[in-house]
Amino acid sequence: MKATAIAHSNIAFIKYWGRKDEILRLPVNGSLSMNLSNLTTITTVEFNERLRKDVVTIKDGNNKKDPLRVITHLNRVRDLAGLSLRVKVVTQNSFPSSTGLSSSASGFAALTLAAVQAIGLHLSEKELSILSRQGSGSACRSIPNGFTEWVDGNTSQTSYAVSLYPPEYWDIVDVVVIVSNEKKVIPTSEGQKSAQSSSFYSKRISLINKKIKQCKKYLNKKDFVRFGSLIEKEALEMHAIMLTSSPPLIYWLPTTVLLMKKVMEWRGEGLLCYFTINTGQDIHIICQQKDTKFVVQKLQTIKEIKKIIINNPAKGAYLTENHLF
Ligand code: PMV
Repeated sequence: MKATAIAHSNIAFIKYWGRKDEILRLPVNGSLSMNLSNLTTITTVEFNERLRKDVVTIKDGNNKKDPLRVITHLNRVRDLAGLSLRVKVVTQNSFPSSTGLSSSASGFAALTLAAVQAIGLHLSEKELSILSRQGSGSACRSIPNGFTEWVDGNTSQTSYAVSLYPPEYWDIVDVVVIVSNEKKVIPTSEGQKSAQSSSFYSKRISLINKKIKQCKKYLNKKDFVRFGSLIEKEALEMHAIMLTSSPPLIYWLPTTVLLMKKVMEWRGEGLLCYFTINTGQDIHIICQQKDTKFVVQKLQTIKEIKKIIINNPAKGAYLTENHLF
């Protein structure tokens, strides 16, 4: 009973920030995202009656990570299957964790698919998305293909992500810039809990459905300028909530701010690109395929940055025979 799955991380264009149910991880609002081709997690899961205890190995150079969250998620899978077999898990990311690149999205999507397959369950894409969501909210968007929407339901069964368009629908690119290997101090899961303490939060929520509708319209029309400017404002709005929460959350580093200003400057010079940022210092620069080389050329002049990872829209989570053990 062994299976291996690969899932891509995703970048949210309209963000999920704040939950109406902490246990089920039900978000206060819906969100929109794109899977990222070069930010992946591969996970092998084996349920085996010869194992005496659960063994989880997270191979990302950050062994401070708590495997308890992984075990809690595997218990959901064991409960669904009605089995109590011990499990061995090995998981590896292609990118750093805890710097703002949403490794928990790809991580919990890959873990869910591999575990469900290994234990012999047959779940639909919707059921996989619902299950992944309980491990990490944004993981539900890494299950379906390409450009996805997490629909905002009031129950576990109605809160899941669906594909809006396949990856080849639009050739936009996410140039991820790693600005530091420093790990964030407040994990995203903790940060989410303080969203509602910002006095700006209720205003954000009162306007969010309109914003989602607008963003879907620009996606539908492939209107890059309106789309880019909307998602950049959305990222700044989410960070405005973080900055004004109790305790305040400041995920940016000086290089993050430098890059935000650079993107605006390059746009002023005619290079169409927009930024978005999650919980961490790393920055996502969204551009059209034809402009990627110009964005990269500009970035290469900035000595403070550590690494660039170019991402195309990617498919959803899938199984592979390349087991890690
Ligand atoms: O799924 P979580 O708990 O890691 O939260 C994701 C939060 C953001 O990345 C900031 C926004 C989003 O929608 O991905």
